[in-house]
Amino acid sequence: QMPQRVTIWEVGPRDGLQNEKTQVPVEVKERFVRRLVSAGLPVVEATSFVHPRWVPQLADAEELMTRLGDDGRGLPVLVPNERGLDRALELGLRHVAIFGSATETFAQRNLNRSVEEQFAMFEPVVRRARDAGLDVRAYVSMCFGDPWEGAVPVEQVVSVGRRLLDLGASQLSLGDTIGVGTANQVGALVDAFVAAGTGLGELALHFHDTYGQALANTLAGLQAGVTTYDASAGGLGGCPFAKSATGNLATEDLVWLLAGLGIEHGVDLDALVETSVWMAEQLGRPSPSAVVRALASS
Ligand code: HMG
Ligand code: MG
Repeated sequence: QMPQRVTIWEVGPRDGLQNEKTQVPVEVKERFVRRLVSAGLPVVEATSFVHPRWVPQLADAEELMTRLGDDGRGLPVLVPNERGLDRALELGLRHVAIFGSATETFAQRNLNRSVEEQFAMFEPVVRRARDAGLDVRAYVSMCFGDPWEGAVPVEQVVSVGRRLLDLGASQLSLGDTIGVGTANQVGALVDAFVAAGTGLGELALHFHDTYGQALANTLAGLQAGVTTYDASAGGLGGCPFAKSATGNLATEDLVWLLAGLGIEHGVDLDALVETSVWMAEQLGRPSPSAVVRALASS
């Protein structure tokens, strides 16, 4: 039984732009976020309050959120630790996301922590954010494979994911950080979370399209009953700390699939494609999205 309605969680300004070699001017980022909101995307993840030396591309987080003002207050931002949360609270932001790793190697490379140590870092973040009335999402990375460790056991992913949810996050986004997962794995992982007491409404799926599997994996997620999907406009994205991570599932490709299946999504595809074509011009290279290329040239 496929869902009738899906929530698209747009990550282009964060997951997309964190991986760009060129520094995108803050006024272009502001325009990008505003255009995505105008195109009907219900959630636009705007930036990260991480260490600026680790992700220089997002070092302008304060400036971006200040420029967005009231319009940015409810947009989610990544915060790895209390320092990140303080920065978000200072700006009056209402929605944060922590990001954990299912594997040791990526926990070290992305957070400078072990898998066990990451929970100690996240615990006060979630507690203080919840006490202040903020929404908290949790990501778990390397759910379908890790470039250093290879296959990642389902029980390992469920154990890390459950602990992140049990800290008090309201949603868990399961990340295929390097895009190696295939459709049968998606169904098996979702089923394992449900068997461990997780509601389908608490889960989101976050696919990178490195191996071209993101749409097939999305269909498997829909068949398993998941109703929230992360995607980035034009297929921007990657992760600077994960070998061979390319762009996210393109939002346009996702919208095309959902529209064909008769699943409501609320997005104006033409406005979205125009936005991605404009962003590709800013970045100086064409969008990797097949749907953007097809519609932009038609
Ligand atoms: P660390 O070096 O262990 O930090 O980094 P620390 O706690 O030891 O602090 C060292 C210094 O950094 C201190 O300054 C802190 O104040 C400062 P000092 O006292 O030495 O002057 N500091 C900060 N400054 C600003 N903002 C902060 C902050 N925290 C500490 N938040 C840390 C640990 C977590 C900070 C670092 O590893 C980091 O920033 N990592 C971010 C990595 C990242 O952003 N990765 C990409 C996002 S995850 C992703 O893309 C995957 C996802 O898309 C899902 C998927 O695809 O799977 C979500
Ligand atoms: Mg990602």
